[in-house]
Amino acid sequence: MKTTITVNGQARALDLDPRTTLLDALREELDLKGTKKGCDHGQCGACTVLVNGVRINSCLSLAVMHDGDAVTTIEGVGTPDALHPIQQAFLKEDAFQCGYCTPGQICSTLGMLKEVADNWPSQATEDLAAKIELTDAEIRERMSGNLCRCSAYPQILAAIRSVAE
Ligand code: FES
Repeated sequence: MKTTITVNGQARALDLDPRTTLLDALREELDLKGTKKGCDHGQCGACTVLVNGVRINSCLSLAVMHDGDAVTTIEGVGTPDALHPIQQAFLKEDAFQCGYCTPGQICSTLGMLKEVADNWPSQATEDLAAKIELTDAEIRERMSGNLCRCSAYPQILAAIRSVAE
């Protein structure tokens, strides 16, 4: 089935088996391996991407449903020359061990911050600081769909907190 998805700002024309998940289309058809397959059942959050700015588990969504949508994967976060402030915060706070869940954690953080600040306009840290007022408990709740088998949760929380302060 012919499907065109804008992935990280670039229109990608695909001819897909209608049963292909968005996750498999990204990884296998477009060779974007940054989005990880953990459970493949919507339980771990490793496959989180942004669709039109909204975070979803890409393993639970058929790619053909996203004809015309804009998808952002971890490869589209930040620029070739500079990490996104959230990526910098994860590095600074050592918010990972194996790193397998990190792309999903970061995409989910972006989606969460956008949920909180409706018109979150850019990647500038000061924009986040101006708009985000979340308690640690709220951040934990909003990030509860993203599991980390290494249990780096305190550091992940610290990283998110550092861009939300
Ligand atoms: Fe999609 Fe686990 S791989 S939620």
